[in-house]
Amino acid sequence: MTILTDRFGRSFPYLRLSLTQACNFRCSYCLPDGYQADGKSRFLDRDEVLRLVRAFAALGMRKIRLTGGEPSLRKDLPQIIEAIAAVPGITRIALTTNGTLLPRHVGVWRAAGLTALNVSLDSLDAQRFHAITGHDRHAEISEGVEMALGLGFDSVKLNAVLLRGVNDDELPNWLEFLRERDLAVRFIELMRTGDNADYFARHHLRAQFVEEQLVAAGWTLRQRASDAGPAREFQHPDYRGRIGIIAPYAKDFCAGCNRLRVTARGDLRLCLFGNFGIPLRPLLQSDADHETLVARIATQLHLKSAGHGLHEGNTGITPHLASIGG
Ligand code: 5AD
Ligand code: SF4
Repeated sequence: MTILTDRFGRSFPYLRLSLTQACNFRCSYCLPDGYQADGKSRFLDRDEVLRLVRAFAALGMRKIRLTGGEPSLRKDLPQIIEAIAAVPGITRIALTTNGTLLPRHVGVWRAAGLTALNVSLDSLDAQRFHAITGHDRHAEISEGVEMALGLGFDSVKLNAVLLRGVNDDELPNWLEFLRERDLAVRFIELMRTGDNADYFARHHLRAQFVEEQLVAAGWTLRQRASDAGPAREFQHPDYRGRIGIIAPYAKDFCAGCNRLRVTARGDLRLCLFGNFGIPLRPLLQSDADHETLVARIATQLHLKSAGHGLHEGNTGITPHLASIGG
């Protein structure tokens, strides 16, 4: 079997697939005015998704992450999960969600074959959470996370975007939260996108800020699997939970990148901040195009460049992460 690799020797066992650009939240760094439909074509349907997943699986992809926008807004999400779970070779299906629909649906998703869950939770404080996301939904999301912890997922992770002057004093609360819970929180350094330049200037905070506090408190870096992705994970003997740091502006961040993305309308994006997308949708209309699709993906991978241009202030064609899948 061919394994997806690029000319820098990185391999790509992992695909992030966006199921929709729509979102019910208004996160201040992503969609501060809420999602506005752009009137373009509908998002990939279940059959298109399935053809896509089969092609990537034929190239050695094992793990798929479903993202958005907010993927749980798709009414057919359980059916999509179930169909993907049945594709030979796919062993892990993860979902990134803002968590509002967890209490209602997480059991169904798990039963359909979901194996991992990432929930965005930028603050443990309900009022702050409301201020950041535009929605007072902290209680349901917390309830949903506790439910998920009882369902036997391979992993449950929380994502918190670090925001200067907004949530940068919460580490002690997070540590308390992690003392008895078997989950990981990942602090993500705010990324500058096409739309959030002013916000970024006001609120960007280096992930190092947290990392230094962790090391001072006795947390140590864990060794991780080679396909584990760009997070640096910390552990501490007194805590059940773990802490991950995602620092996209750190030196060598891109060298560890094993992400490939496909947008909700079927464009292959080789880098979150790249300047082009490769339309796969025309090859998702019929099973007869499987081989051609596999060949197109394999060829395009050779174009994945060595790193993003964020340090030069070049954010590529990504207006906000809801447009591509965070
Ligand atoms: N910078 C960093 N993280 C972001 N996310 C969305 N936009 C940004 C940004 N500009 C996060 C979300 C979610 C994850 C998928 O990406 O909060 O947790
Ligand atoms: Fe929605 Fe996620 Fe963007 Fe927040 S960060 S607005 S939850 S897509």
